Amino acid sequence: MDNTTRLQYLQAMGIDVWIPRTSTPAVQPFVEGKLEEIPCLKPESNAFEQPLEQPQSLSTWDNLQAEVAACTKCALCQTRTQTLFGTGNKTADWMVIGEAPGQHEDEQGKPFVGKAGLLLTEMLRAAGLERDEVFITNILKCRPPGNRDPKPDEAESCSDYLRRQRELIKPKIILAVGRISAQTLLKTDAPIGKLRGKVHDLDGIPLVVVYHPAYLLRSLLEKRKAWQDLQLAVRTVKGK
Ligand code: URA
Repeated sequence: MDNTTRLQYLQAMGIDVWIPRTSTPAVQPFVEGKLEEIPCLKPESNAFEQPLEQPQSLSTWDNLQAEVAACTKCALCQTRTQTLFGTGNKTADWMVIGEAPGQHEDEQGKPFVGKAGLLLTEMLRAAGLERDEVFITNILKCRPPGNRDPKPDEAESCSDYLRRQRELIKPKIILAVGRISAQTLLKTDAPIGKLRGKVHDLDGIPLVVVYHPAYLLRSLLEKRKAWQDLQLAVRTVKGK
């Protein structure tokens, strides 16, 4: 899609666009903007029906992806359309971690594809990043029915997948998008307002918390803070 058309789409959806002014990532300030507890019996894919030894041509990454696609660790496998592994660059400097797939993400198997996703794309662009440069995934790989908050056991079931993704990608920074992501990754109940604005450490990787774009679409006044947090993340990656 060309830039003009993209801007027209965003304008029609009521989304303000962030445009970097110069090579220095400076941007106009924001104008503000988740059953039953029955274990799954039937895997969705036949990945585990294959012999235990995977063909050597399959990379660790592909194995992990296949494992996630066939996951039956929690009850969400009964209601999902498909799992959402994540999209983007497998060797990205930036790993962006949201909460969980919503309806559109569950249907398409891609993260952040709705209106909030468009805003996330603009936030990344304002930080000088295209979506395909970063790796975007979620705390949960399956959609919780009705978009309710993830349950602790669901996040726990997915945590090993996320840790292995992190170890393969080896990002220079993790952007925790939204309260659920921040609290789950940092293992805290602290409010997001106390978690944002500083650089945390997750197993040796700097982690910056940013407000969820769905929240920013409703809370215009917080966009400035989100911009400050993105700048903090950019400075952290650059070592400044
Ligand atoms: N919200 C999230 O946190 N993740 C998605 O993939 C979509 C919406």
